[in-house]
Amino acid sequence: MPAQLRCFNSTCRKAFPTTEVIYNCPVCDGLLEVDYPGLTLDPAPTKRLWRERRMSNAPEDLSGVWRYREMLPFLDDGDGVVTLREGNTALLDAPRAAAYAGLERLTFKHQGYNPTGSFKDNGMTCGASQALRLGRKRVACVSTGNTSASMAAYASAAGMTPVIFLPHGNISYGKLAQALEYGALTLQIEANFDEILALVRTHADAFGLYLLNSMNPFRLEGQKTIMVEMLDQRDWRVPDWVVVPGGNLGNSSAFGKGLRELRDLGFIDRLPRLAVVQAEGSAPFYEYFHDRSEFRAVRAPETLATAIRIGDPVSWPKAIREVDESGGVVLKVSEQEIADAKAVIGQCGIGCEPASASTLAGLKKLTAAGQVAKSADVVAVLTGHVLKDPDYIYRYHTGQLKTPGGASISATFGNQPVVLPNDPERIRARLAI
Ligand code: F0G
Repeated sequence: MPAQLRCFNSTCRKAFPTTEVIYNCPVCDGLLEVDYPGLTLDPAPTKRLWRERRMSNAPEDLSGVWRYREMLPFLDDGDGVVTLREGNTALLDAPRAAAYAGLERLTFKHQGYNPTGSFKDNGMTCGASQALRLGRKRVACVSTGNTSASMAAYASAAGMTPVIFLPHGNISYGKLAQALEYGALTLQIEANFDEILALVRTHADAFGLYLLNSMNPFRLEGQKTIMVEMLDQRDWRVPDWVVVPGGNLGNSSAFGKGLRELRDLGFIDRLPRLAVVQAEGSAPFYEYFHDRSEFRAVRAPETLATAIRIGDPVSWPKAIREVDESGGVVLKVSEQEIADAKAVIGQCGIGCEPASASTLAGLKKLTAAGQVAKSADVVAVLTGHVLKDPDYIYRYHTGQLKTPGGASISATFGNQPVVLPNDPERIRARLAI
């Protein structure tokens, strides 16, 4: 039962060996997915095996991705995996955020707890392992910051050379700093994410680069385990909703694939509904979801949530299928809504980067509109760590945050630092004791 690459396009569905270096179908240019024809697993013993592996100290068992390797058998036996012990991310109850969204209860799955601080690590362990298996020396990605941080770490850990293309001036310092620290050749290009990705996709072979963007289907195999781990942590109770931010739409696609496969293999008996949330200024998927005539890219996407500042998402054909199959929705939220939701997540003692907070902002809208019931069982995925973008945080709390258009964002939940002289009386007075 070998793994194969398969064209996602329903009118093509051609299959190719997993050892071929292709990112799109060579016949019709459709997206590719990794497919395991004839894969069957016995749910009860497999669930037990996955639980038992938590007692093991073997690197592939300590990884929250490779622990579930029966779901992603694309490497040949004996092939090494590149792991930084990714996954194992917490499921956290957040009563304050639940109340803010109008829900009785809300759980966050915090992918920011990964080794480089974002969900990209779940995918990169697979992408980097596949690159090694193919004998590639130089790997590359175009990124709004997190993919590049993750790729830099995994490539360097595996002895490959990371080459990174970034939109100059539009990624947070936390992420840029990681790329530099992990030793990537870092190219800041004077264009936006979509423009750079179009260029690099065309020239990757000529540049001698193996691409690890999320159209690389091996990345998505790792990201689908975020849903496997979430269900394992919940003793396989399926939530009513899973909420996720939408940028290039790799995560939404991966989650849908993972959940469908778990259902088809008999691990769960229904799918949770997927809610994908975009930022208002970068919301082509939202527009397409509501008006199915044709997919129209946003030429000049804008949002302070720079991780999802993407106008031409590569994986939209996969993501729309997953949203539809799950009975899900796509919505958009404003800069103010993201900023306030982010501060509320911070007040829970949890924290996240701006893009992640779109989940809570979206949930608030969905409950207000009656689309999500107050009593619903909801898991929202926080995609990145709070320290990815400290500049945004400081500006919000000090009332200096402005939208890309220059409008002020209110510090609704602002928390100003207080400057005092080195004087015990003044400090006591401020503490009011
Ligand atoms: N949240 C964060 C923190 C991200 O970094 C990204 C994407 C997303 C959400 C959107 O996920 O693309 O799978 O829909 N960041 C990419 C990057 C594009 O280059 O780091 P998506």
